Amino acid sequence: MADETSDRRNQARIKILELANMISVPMSLNAAVRLKVPDAIWAGGSNSPLSASQILAVIRSSSSSSSGGDPENLQRILRMLASYGVFEEHLVGSGERKYSLTDVGKTLVTDANGLSYADYVLQHHQDELLKAWPLVHEAVLDPSVEPFARANGEPAYSYYGKKPEMNVLMLRAMSGLSVPFMRAVLDSGYDGFAGVKRLVDVGGSAGDCLRMIMGKHPNVTEGINFDLPEVVAKAPSIPGVTHVGGDMFEFIPTGDAIFMKWILTTWTDDEVKSIMENCCKALPAGGKLIACEPVLPKVSDDSHRTRALLEGDIFVMTIYRTKGKHRTEEEFRKLGQLAGFPHFRALYIDYFYTVLEFQK
Ligand SMILES: C[S@@+](CC[C@H](N)C(=O)[O-])C[C@H]1O[C@@H](n2cnc3c(N)ncnc32)[C@H](O)[C@@H]1O
Repeated sequence: MADETSDRRNQARIKILELANMISVPMSLNAAVRLKVPDAIWAGGSNSPLSASQILAVIRSSSSSSSGGDPENLQRILRMLASYGVFEEHLVGSGERKYSLTDVGKTLVTDANGLSYADYVLQHHQDELLKAWPLVHEAVLDPSVEPFARANGEPAYSYYGKKPEMNVLMLRAMSGLSVPFMRAVLDSGYDGFAGVKRLVDVGGSAGDCLRMIMGKHPNVTEGINFDLPEVVAKAPSIPGVTHVGGDMFEFIPTGDAIFMKWILTTWTDDEVKSIMENCCKALPAGGKLIACEPVLPKVSDDSHRTRALLEGDIFVMTIYRTKGKHRTEEEFRKLGQLAGFPHFRALYIDYFYTVLEFQK
């Protein structure tokens, strides 16, 4: 019989309870975003510690109802999220708790362009996506249908295409993540866009990546933002950028170089090969495909980076394709070779997306 008084058994019992209750974390994060708590605390840059009652008063003043609500319940959410590093808890003299934003919490504050990571949190917690999660085990028993399609009757992208509000949220969520990532790549001195005149962004969503690349590299004079027709229909107009609707499995517009971010991950190995072959056809001899994708480390550890990448892998399996996946550098290199790209290099600039260059 195990000694239940030992530190080892105590640690095991507390860890499994932490894991079993883990759903409280993302759902509370979603609640904090829905309530616009980060913007309420940020208050145009002050980030002064506020009590739950004060935060609730700010939320109420910017919504139609100016009173009511339960500050104690809000404080329970803030306290738990403080232990995950989203908020910083300040215990003041009287025993009152106040909260400010940590660096993690600040990623949820709406910027001057109306963007933040908040839309990504909201996008991931829409009812249709949540309905897929109890079916993750089905991806093991029968991988022919992804949990999202099992729960909602059709695959995610075609489903979003029929729901304008989901489509718009997806665009905003992608913009919220793409802008800081592109800033990091462009400010790092990355040289992959040198000499490129016509650049195609495959699955470019709202066109933020192209806009930023063209702003930094005036040699890129022609940008083609290629995405599904219903997506480009909602994309804003950007000087020098032409939005082209289509299906990357059928055709990809020609360019001196092709850029893509967060595309290959969503698809099976056969589908990735087919997308990359279409890229290869659209490029001149020596042309480059620059793909920014999550890349898995070889060894599984408990770092935030590894966890974010492994958690994202299960998200892909559940929502997009049971055999779509996060891949290792070696798996990407091999897929590139099969699709006609003999040259490959990987640049680790951002902790989540790795810049992968495939050259013809
Ligand atoms: C994860 S999002 C990435 C968006 C953008 N590249 C970014 O990182 O912000 C994947 C994109 O691929 C697009 N997409 C999905 N299927 C596609 C297809 N068959 N042809 C072209 N684009 C497609 C989606 O509409 C979506 O914009």
